[in-house]
Amino acid sequence: MSLVKLLNFQLLADGRGSLIALEGQANIPFEIKRVYYLFGMPQDIARGFHAHRNLKQVLICMAGSCTVIVDNGKERESVLLTKPDQGLFIDGMIWREMNNFTADCVLTVLASEHYDEADYIREYETFLELI
Ligand code: TYD
Repeated sequence: MSLVKLLNFQLLADGRGSLIALEGQANIPFEIKRVYYLFGMPQDIARGFHAHRNLKQVLICMAGSCTVIVDNGKERESVLLTKPDQGLFIDGMIWREMNNFTADCVLTVLASEHYDEADYIREYETFLELI
């Protein structure tokens, strides 16, 4: 099974523009406790380089595009996120890296828990030991 789990959100579009509704425990497969967004990334930078012990997340590229790499310690896959009606679901012990940001990229992240530094695994070697 692919490591890349994409969610497709219903686009409510008419002559006035487009609307997407995100709901916890509905089209987002967990209760949403936190939302954060990344923007203003310089080109040629990469972010992430961590895994989480318990956190579930959905990453949505609201504008522009970026590449997300997901790695379960055995396989590594990448996906180009380019549209606001698509979300990348990251569940469980997955190492993630983000790069290839366009100047206009706005990457929104929905998370199942509040921020907790203790939930982060920031060393790849530690990640490999824990899986
Ligand atoms: P960082 O984990 O380095 O971001 P990324 O994984 O996207 O490269 O986070 C940058 C800073 O923001 C770091 O000091 C932790 C802080 N932070 C919060 O305070 N709350 C949050 O919800 C997140 C995701 C980060």
